Amino acid sequence: METELMTANSSKVISEMLERISRTSPMTMGYPVSKDFDYSELMPFLQYPLNNVGDPFIASTYTVGSRELEKEVVAFFSKLFRAGEDNWWGYVTNGGSEGNLYGLYLARELYPKAIVYYSEATHYSVQKNLHLLNMPNIAIRSQASGEIDYLDLEKTISINRQVPVIILANIGTTMTEARDDVGKMKAIFKSMAIQHHYIHVDGALSGSYAAFIEPRPAFDFADGADSIAISGHKFLGSPIPCGLVIAKKSHRDRIARSIDYIGSQDTTISGSRNGHTPLFLWYLINKLGVEGLRKRTQDCLDVADYAEAALKQVEPLAWRNPSTLTISIPKPEAALVKKWQLASENNWAHIICMPGMHKEQIDAFVKDLKESKIQGN
Ligand SMILES: Cc1ncc(COP(=O)(O)O)c(C=O)c1O
Repeated sequence: METELMTANSSKVISEMLERISRTSPMTMGYPVSKDFDYSELMPFLQYPLNNVGDPFIASTYTVGSRELEKEVVAFFSKLFRAGEDNWWGYVTNGGSEGNLYGLYLARELYPKAIVYYSEATHYSVQKNLHLLNMPNIAIRSQASGEIDYLDLEKTISINRQVPVIILANIGTTMTEARDDVGKMKAIFKSMAIQHHYIHVDGALSGSYAAFIEPRPAFDFADGADSIAISGHKFLGSPIPCGLVIAKKSHRDRIARSIDYIGSQDTTISGSRNGHTPLFLWYLINKLGVEGLRKRTQDCLDVADYAEAALKQVEPLAWRNPSTLTISIPKPEAALVKKWQLASENNWAHIICMPGMHKEQIDAFVKDLKESKIQGN
C-alpha cells in the first residue's frame, strides 16, 4: 500500500518537474546552453554504468565505458585547435571549470613558483581554482570590451620578471564574450625575454567555435596555448554538463602516475569519470563534422546579428563584441530578468544566441523589453 502511494507520488513529482522544465527551457536567454540536440538514439546506454575511469588513452580493467570514442573526441578537437602532430592529450571533463582547474594544475606542476595572471573579467570559478591550487595570482585590468588590458599585463609582469608567468587567457569572457589575444601575450613574453611561461586558454563558450570565425582569433596551440578548456554543454550541446580539456602531451607526461587498482594512469582530476558525456560529444561531432560545426557557428552568428539589430531598436545602449553570440544590454527590470533567466553583473545583462534559439524568441523578448521600457521600468 505504502509502495503504491510512493509510486503514485513519484510519478506526479516526475511529471510536474518535466512540465516545469519543458516550459522554462526555451526561456534561458541569458545562459550559454544549446537546446537543439537529439540524442535519443543513445538512450539504451542509460541502462549501463558507463565509467571511463582513469586516463582515456590507457585501457582500464573496467571496460564498461566509452574510452575509444572519448579518444576520438580529443583527437578531433586537438586537430581543430592545431596541436602539434604527436604532442596532444586530453579528456572529457565535467565542465569548463574542471578543464580550467586541470590546465592550472598542469601549469603549477611545471612552474611551481609562477604567478598566475588573468583579467578581472575572468569567470568566478578560476579564483576558486587558484585558491584550491594555492597559486599566487594577480588580476589584470580589462578594457571596456572585456578583453585584457595588455599594457597593464605587461607592466605587472615586468614588476615580477624574475618569476615564471602563467596566464589564464579568456576566449570568450562570461559577460561580454571578449577574446584575449594569445599572440599578443606571446609577444609580451618575447619583448621581456621571459623564458618560463604557460598559457591556459579558458574557451568555455567561444573556444568551441572560435576556429570557424573569420578572421580566426589567436587562441589555439599554434598561436601559443599550452592547454585549452571548453564546455561541452554550451555551444556543442549535451543534456549532462561536460567539457573538454586538451593539453600538450609533454606537459601531461610530467604528472602521470600508474595506479595498479584500475590498471590505468591517474592523470585526470576525478577517478571515476562520466562515460555517457563522451558518447554525446562523439555523436555530435560525427553527425556534424567540421563543416556542420562551421554552419552551426554561422547560423548562430546570423541570429546574433538579428538580435543585435532588434535590441538596438528598443535599447540604444545594446552592444556586442565582433563575431560573438552575446549581446549586452543594461539590466532590465526584475520581472524580465526572472522570466527570461538573464544573468547579470554590474547592472548589465546579456542574451546569448545559442544553437536552438530562434528569431521568434528574440522577437518575444524584444517585445517584452519594449513594453517594460514604455511602462518606465
Ligand atoms: C568564461 C567561462 N569560463 C568558465 C566557465 C565555467 O564553465 P562550466 O559551467 O562548464 O564549468 C564559464 C561558464 O559560464 C565561463 O563563462
